[in-house]
Amino acid sequence: MSERVQKVIAQAGIASRRKAETLITEGKVEINGEVVTQLGVKVNKNDEVRVNGIPLTKEPLVYIIMYKPRGVITSVSDDKHRKTVIDLLDNVQERVYPIGRLDYDTSGLLLLTNDGELDNRLTHPKYEVEKTYIAKVKGEIKNDDLKQLRNGVVIDKKKTAPAKAKLIRFNRDSKTSIVSLTIHEGRNHQVKKMLASLDHPVMKLSRESYSFLNLKGLNPGDSRSLKPHEIEELKKMVKLK
Ligand code: URA
Repeated sequence: MSERVQKVIAQAGIASRRKAETLITEGKVEINGEVVTQLGVKVNKNDEVRVNGIPLTKEPLVYIIMYKPRGVITSVSDDKHRKTVIDLLDNVQERVYPIGRLDYDTSGLLLLTNDGELDNRLTHPKYEVEKTYIAKVKGEIKNDDLKQLRNGVVIDKKKTAPAKAKLIRFNRDSKTSIVSLTIHEGRNHQVKKMLASLDHPVMKLSRESYSFLNLKGLNPGDSRSLKPHEIEELKKMVKLK
């Protein structure tokens, strides 16, 4: 969403809207390093606005871990008016967004932040952040399936990176298996596609952990701020510290 720069300056508490307009016409305001003297130029949250050379203070950085329930969309808004993960947050004033996504019918661990740099890095394949999923699938997962999952299977014409795969149990009555899969890529619907490629369609999916973070102490729909040492550890992992 973009806003007029004089409004953004006023909202940052630097000056009244009228005083902000004067600062602009006097050439004291820069947007992304360029002086602007026209009123009404619009900026969005990615633009850097400086007044007298000093950047407007940005929102404090926040880091949240959520137990996403099924039936909620991983997005900041939805044109079909479905419930989003943002609707589940209370007491968060900052404009946070999800790091990566979980499908509408997938539950489990989701991180949210307004720290764009951490988001970029955690979702970059180079850092190989491990995510563990528990899937309930149709049919019996055999050793050969596990081997293929570990070695990589072809989805969307490209082989997946080596993964960790474990059978947790097979239910003879329902002919379903519970399998744990740890991957470090983040391709679209990756877990569902990997298992479907072996003829084991996923019936239920949940993300149990994200690197060293897990859902201990959280129920579906709950969230909490990450602790300082957890933020530090995440940053270290992606060379931000
Ligand atoms: N893989 C999927 O198929 N779905 C998810 O929500 C996450 C990983």
